[in-house]
Amino acid sequence: MKVVIVGGAGFLGSYLVNELKYDHDVLVFDRVANPDVESHVGDYMNIENCLESLKGGGGDAVIHVAAISSPAYDPPELVFKSNVTGTFNVHEAARKLGIKKVISTSSEAAYGFFFGEKEFLPNYLPIDENHPLRPQDPYGLSKKVNEEIAQSFSDKGIMSTSVIRPPWIVKPEDYTGHKGFIAGRGFPLDKFNTFAYVDVRDLTKAFRLLLETDIPRYEIYNVCADDSTSNMPLSELLPKINPTLEDMAQSIKGNKSGLSNEKIKKLGWIPKFARR
Ligand SMILES: NC(=O)c1ccc[n+]([C@@H]2O[C@H](COP(=O)([O-])OP(=O)(O)OC[C@H]3O[C@@H](n4cnc5c(N)ncnc54)[C@H](O)[C@@H]3O)[C@@H](O)[C@H]2O)c1
Repeated sequence: MKVVIVGGAGFLGSYLVNELKYDHDVLVFDRVANPDVESHVGDYMNIENCLESLKGGGGDAVIHVAAISSPAYDPPELVFKSNVTGTFNVHEAARKLGIKKVISTSSEAAYGFFFGEKEFLPNYLPIDENHPLRPQDPYGLSKKVNEEIAQSFSDKGIMSTSVIRPPWIVKPEDYTGHKGFIAGRGFPLDKFNTFAYVDVRDLTKAFRLLLETDIPRYEIYNVCADDSTSNMPLSELLPKINPTLEDMAQSIKGNKSGLSNEKIKKLGWIPKFARR
């Protein structure tokens, strides 16, 4: 297939390029070039840049992983504006060009737990794709709107859109060096979160699966490891964080995280990498 990877020069995007470049025609659209493949350098805030790049990519599918990928380093209004406008423009350019498939990237942050200023608790555990989204921060909120954008374009009935909602994306060297694992209790340490992560190599396989599978209507998928960032099973850890979680936490088996990956597994995806 002829695929444009928007954000294909970033962390996840570079792994995706390497996953797909041998058996698909891959073009990158990003603010910077990816030296491994043909790249169009431009700004996704500019619809003309989006149209030129997606047209140059040949037109079978778009994988959109570009974003300001954290609320921590940029002004809130910029994080929101960039992620929302960029995601709209990518879908709108695909629509104008008659591209039939767009796969985009949300985040576990859309649920609201990780970056929330005021702690709140889940309605149930493990958290699946039907759990309400209550983000308080501009990044999580932008991802919630990104999902609405993808659904809105699917509702027009002319293109298939699907969304992957990853938690913290881990690269191989993080298993030994990252504070999220060294702490062994996950982070932040003092309030509820899902303690979920996904290995970037497994995540790229999920994008491949959605690219190569016919998914007729809007769907969203959590994609996470069968493992958590916590050294302690969450059935024991979560009640220590908040005793109200005692009963709910018993639904989390073994070393699994608080996020459910059952839906993507039904398509045949199996996580292969974990720190344990
Ligand atoms: N890294 C994580 O742990 C994590 C977790 C959950 C979700 N995500 C999501 O996964 C996706 C990829 O994240 P990442 O960690 O690879 O981020 P990254 O910052 O490494 O890559 C993002 C890419 O988007 C590009 N980009 C940003 N603004 C742009 C613009 N205006 N025009 C064109 N390109 C632009 C950047 O140049 C960069 O190459 C993002 O949507 C992010 O929100 C990341």
